[in-house]
Order: sequence, then C-alpha cells, then structure tokens
Amino acid sequence: MCPSTPAAPPDPPRDRRWSRRAESLTPFLAMEVLERAAELERDGLDVAHLEVGEPEFAPPAAASRAIVEALARDDTNYTDSRGLWELRAAIAGDLDRRFGASVDPERVLVTQGTSSAMTLVFACLVDPGDEVILPTPHYPCYPNFVRFCGGEPVFVETDAETGWHIDPERVREAITPRTKAIVVGSPANPTGAVQPRAVMEALAGLGPTLVSDEIYDGLVYGGVRTASALTVSPDAFVLDGFSKRYAMTGFRLGWVVAPQAAMRRLQILQQNLFISASSFVQHAGIAALAEGGEMSAALLEACSDRRRLLVDGLRDLGFGIEHEPEGAFYVLADARAFWDDSRALAFEILEQAHVGCTPGIDFGEAAEGRLRFCYALARETIETALERMAPVLAARRASRGTRERGA
Ligand SMILES: Cc1ncc(COP(=O)(O)O)c(C=O)c1O
Repeated sequence: MCPSTPAAPPDPPRDRRWSRRAESLTPFLAMEVLERAAELERDGLDVAHLEVGEPEFAPPAAASRAIVEALARDDTNYTDSRGLWELRAAIAGDLDRRFGASVDPERVLVTQGTSSAMTLVFACLVDPGDEVILPTPHYPCYPNFVRFCGGEPVFVETDAETGWHIDPERVREAITPRTKAIVVGSPANPTGAVQPRAVMEALAGLGPTLVSDEIYDGLVYGGVRTASALTVSPDAFVLDGFSKRYAMTGFRLGWVVAPQAAMRRLQILQQNLFISASSFVQHAGIAALAEGGEMSAALLEACSDRRRLLVDGLRDLGFGIEHEPEGAFYVLADARAFWDDSRALAFEILEQAHVGCTPGIDFGEAAEGRLRFCYALARETIETALERMAPVLAARRASRGTRERGA
C-alpha cells in the first residue's frame, strides 16, 4: 500500500541563466499539491481539496452581479493606481465598523489580492541586508517576499503548548540594528492562533515597523476577539483582502492601509509594478462590503461547525491536535505518528487517498512533522476526506511500527 518513493515534485535545479533572486525563492507547497491534484483530476480522479485556503462557498451574489454589470457598461479601464475612491472609502468605513478605527481613505491602497499588497509593502520597506522578523510557523510566502527584496527572514518560534501565541520577549531578543520590520498574522495561517491585544501592543512597542496580515479577521470562534494593528500602532502596515471572509479568492482583490508618509512610495510602486487592480473587480469589492455581511456571517457559522467535524475526525484518525484553532480555517495537525516527513506524507495521501493537504514544512521547520487541513468546506468534502485517508494512514502507521520494531 505504501510505496517507498512518493510523488513529491523535485525542487528546480540551479541554473545560471536565472537570477539569484528568482532562485532564492522556494516553492509554495500548498500550490504544488493543488497543481498535482489538478493533474489527477484531468485523469478523471476525484480529489477532496483540503490543501488550499479557499472557502468552498459562493461569494456574495451582489459581488458577482456587480462584475457583470460593470462589464455590461464596458467599465474595463485602468483605475487610479490607488484604487477607486468609492472602494477606498468603503474599506475605511469597514475598518471603522470592525475596529472603531478612524482611517482616512487616503491611507488605503487597493491591490490585486493581499499577495500584491505584500509585494508593495516589502518592496517599500526592505533593503538588501535588512532583517525581517517572522514568528513561525508562518504563511509560506512571507520569507520569500523578504528574500525577493534581498532581505533576510529571522524566525522566532511559537509552539503548540502555548497556543502558538507569540512571546514578545523572544521577538525582542531577535531584534538587531538590521531589523526593519516584524510581521504578524492574526488570526494566523496555519496555526489558527489569534494574538491577544497585549501581544499586539507589545509587538508595536518594540520599535521596528509592524506589518500585520489581517486577512482572516472576523473568522474567529468561541468568543475570541481580534485586535487590529490599526488600534495599537499609527505606523503599522495592515494587509487585508476579500479572499477569505467573502470567499473571493479568484477575484484577486485586497488592500493595504499604510502610514500617510508611505503612501506616495506605495503609489509609485503600484503604478510601475501593477498599474491598478482590475476595474470591474473593484466594483465587486464595493458590493461585497455593502451587501456581503450575511454571506460572511453564514461562512463563519459553517466554519465553526466544520472546525469541530475536522478536529474530531483527525483526532480519531490518530493525528495530534494539542490546541484547537481559535481563528482562520485551518488545523495544523501533528502527523508524526505516521511519518516525520510532511512533504512525503502529504503527497502519499494525495496519490493514494486522493485528498489534498499541505505539508507542515511549507510553514517552516517549526511545523515539520505536521499537516495542514483547511475546513472552510462542505461537510461532505471533509467526511469524504476523512474516510479516504483512514486506510492509507492505517497502512502508513503499521509500516512505521514494523520499521521501528525491526530497528
Ligand atoms: C495569511 C495569508 N496572507 C495572504 C494570503 C494571500 O491572499 P490573497 O488571495 O488575498 O492574495 C493568504 C492566502 O492563503 C494567507 O493565508
């Protein structure tokens, strides 16, 4: 049942034709699993997708309608590089509603997803040789954005025993004269940790610029509360977008809120690198903020139900879950009962069980030996995944036991 060589794609070989910058980036393994799964699907197999952070829910109907209407009136031109004023004002209004934060729309810049917001922010902040502190396990792309700008990621570990909460003292110890920024994601991918307000305040007080990824804001369970960096530091850069709480991943729409002093630099970067976010998609953003509240609340309720289903189901299969996620929509489960090599295990599960999950190593060494599963899904998808994984994992566990007894 368990082949010795699982089908994990090899890393690309070194090749002097390509820039060192391009070669410094590592693959985004969640996408590698998704792309291999698509090949299996082209061969006619059915794959349960728990690997990628993508809600299996429809976006707000008003958002889709707004795109159709914008296209019908040929609203397809470039916009102001900073985004449509109406959308920037709507985002500022939303921040006021969510956090009571009074933000001038001039400080909002609309981007093609939070990923492009990160490109702009790291390009704005990081010079070659600068260090950026990343609490880990971390979103896979953070260190790659830092390296892309010639910077050096500095990892500060968090652990399951303390609920993956950041210890500001450990962050303080990692600060050097070269430290330019501290990145925090809360609610976090992949751990589901929500950083308490006291942690956010302590991080903001350490000196380096705080870059706060708040893309999972609002997706919290059991009465846990989020604290936006906007309410603890006037100098923070806050990244956010429509992908998660409005299930609008493919729309590619996000934003950054930045200190006023940085806006002109960000604007010039945006003009050159991307020109503007797509015009008709920006109308979907305006509609989502105006009319997407009900859809977003239904998504939260569904995620709360699926979190229970997945946590219990994974525990029954033999995964370790020391700390249940407080937010976002992932479980980062300890898989060492099956295999220490998370990449090999994830690809074995994909090939044999036709279930996509993300290797822990994608999120840094601190998450090796774990697998990340998304639960923003239909109940049937999670039930199918659990059912399909059971025999593959049982065989893997048995073969591990045999090897250990033989050793
Ligand atoms: C923490 C975090 N930040 C940013 C992104 C990218 O989001 P977007 O689709 O807005 O580019 C993701 C996507 O999974 C994420 O998990």
